[in-house]
Amino acid sequence: MQVTEAKFVKGFMKMCEDGCQMGWHERNGGNFSYRMREDETALIRENFSYEKDWAEIGTEVPDLAGEHFLVTGSGKFFGNVKTDPEGNLAVIEIDEEGTKYRILWGLKDGGVPTSELPSHLMNHQVKKKGTNGKHRVIYHCHPVHTIALTFVLPLQEEVFTRELWEMMTECPVIFPDGAAVIPWMVPGGKEIAVRSSQCMEDHDVVIWAHHGIFCSGEDFDQTFGLTHTVEKAAEILCNVLAMAPYKRQTIEPEGFRELAKEFGVNLQERFLYEK
Ligand code: 13P
Ligand code: ZN
Repeated sequence: MQVTEAKFVKGFMKMCEDGCQMGWHERNGGNFSYRMREDETALIRENFSYEKDWAEIGTEVPDLAGEHFLVTGSGKFFGNVKTDPEGNLAVIEIDEEGTKYRILWGLKDGGVPTSELPSHLMNHQVKKKGTNGKHRVIYHCHPVHTIALTFVLPLQEEVFTRELWEMMTECPVIFPDGAAVIPWMVPGGKEIAVRSSQCMEDHDVVIWAHHGIFCSGEDFDQTFGLTHTVEKAAEILCNVLAMAPYKRQTIEPEGFRELAKEFGVNLQERFLYEK
């Protein structure tokens, strides 16, 4: 089967397009990776070439040894994925030590996987273990309102989580573990990857101050929907803050506790502090 005919590749490409339409991928902004299932790898294996050299990942992901990923290329524009998937995407394989990768398909005009490959792979490693293999998608984008909030809210996950939850009733149901926030760091290396993956141990949402967001999920719809929910809540908060420096009324901690009971989610008390 042609790579672009596989269902998971179609889903991946659609999400690139959807993210572009949201305005989350200026230029080459953002990157995206999918941990392929064995049957999906088998389906398109006939297109793979094993001639490219192994290259350093820049970190260690031993629990991902032998795994295959569909990833976006570094410097490639999400907006070009639809018309030229083979030039902008790659299928990579991880070596037996989990320290190297090689390109098996794609990036036909040259290039390498996203510069955030260390973050993507370290996040995948944490989620593979923590969700019993269920999470397969790691998505990074640059959504305006989420980034804007990192200039005005304290960079504390309790504050970000609580403020976002208050913006839409269903937020605590959609991201009950809240949103982690990390201070500004140089992107693209092991250090930010380690920090992010520590946050992914107990969150599906990690906000990078003055940069963007990383979300993890089981499939493309869930991951895109999660990102969209966080960004929409952030947009409402930006609107509220632009109208007044205070809220006249909001959802109170007791309301969240009732919601948690009704929807069967566990909301940690540290997010429900008295203001
Ligand atoms: P890449 O083009 O290397 O994926 O970088 C884009 C980006 O958003 C870095 O954080
Ligand atoms: Zn980025």
